[in-house]
Amino acid sequence: MTARQLANGSTERTRENDQRKRWNVPSAEQATDRALLQLAGISKRFSNGLVALEGVDLSVGPGEFVTLLGPSGCGKSTLLRVIAGLASPSNGRFDWPQSNHDGDGKPGRSLGFVFQEPTLLPWRTVADNVYLPLQLAGKRKGDVQDRIVEALAQVGLSRFVDAYPRELSGGMKMRVSIARALLTNPHVLLMDEPFAALDEITRTKLNNDLLELFARKHLTVIFVTHSVYESVFLSSRIVVMSARPGRVSAEIAIDVPYPRAEEYRMSPTYNDCCRRVSDALRRAMAETPFVSD
Ligand SMILES: Nc1ncnc2c1ncn2[C@@H]1O[C@H](COP(=O)(O)OP(=O)(O)OP(=O)(O)O)[C@@H](O)[C@H]1O
Ligand SMILES: [Mg+2]
Repeated sequence: MTARQLANGSTERTRENDQRKRWNVPSAEQATDRALLQLAGISKRFSNGLVALEGVDLSVGPGEFVTLLGPSGCGKSTLLRVIAGLASPSNGRFDWPQSNHDGDGKPGRSLGFVFQEPTLLPWRTVADNVYLPLQLAGKRKGDVQDRIVEALAQVGLSRFVDAYPRELSGGMKMRVSIARALLTNPHVLLMDEPFAALDEITRTKLNNDLLELFARKHLTVIFVTHSVYESVFLSSRIVVMSARPGRVSAEIAIDVPYPRAEEYRMSPTYNDCCRRVSDALRRAMAETPFVSD
């Protein structure tokens, strides 16, 4: 699709709807109507008294790609950890309304978490690093070998099954980390600045590959980044957070059809979205912090 076409009106809207169907990505309104995850008034006060989150309301629908964007220290990682069940909120309601969404009624089992660092064990091969979560769950490697091979194929690392982390580039290590998160077939993928440490070219490539995975596996993604450009390329919705204690300052739907090719990055629509998100981020950072700690 060309930049000119992207900037066009109703014909594009029809095509957009067709592509949404093909990529199974709901609009922001559709997603909110049938929420997978609902946070209401979530606050987080740490034991040292520091208030990281204050009254966060957020609803995420199946098939959305939601990005949390905000200044350093505003509580993005804390919010992701609350969603993952790795930290408990001090206040507020936290619900998975469709609690059977993972087939066995345990939302926790349906989550994959990708951290900023690939966190690979240097003495284990790529396959053994990917195997780790299932090993910890008591599964024998022989019984899950096919799943390991499949997960590595999904991130384009079939040829590196027996390699060690020291033999991989930074981007490849991050792919291993993503394969490890995909191994349990999660419905919801939580990603905390996964590409922040990578060079621009690798990051762009991984952005493209992530969107392919997002579509192919019908994932719901909650992604954290500092990059306005990355958020506008990837997301169906961007949640802009204000400075600590973190609150939702703005939500911006990126109503651009998937798949998003390189032309999108060059299009006036992309520029326009980046400007809107930058403005919202500037406003969020200017909001007077409510310091209660
Ligand atoms: N375990 C903890 N105990 C006390 N304070 C904490 C703890 N974890 C995080 N914090 C504080 O909570 C605030 C939010 O931290 P968090 O890591 O969620 O921010 P962030 O938005 O992810 O920042 P960044 O963009 O730099 O990664 C920070 O002020 C941090 O110092
Ligand atoms: Mg963080």
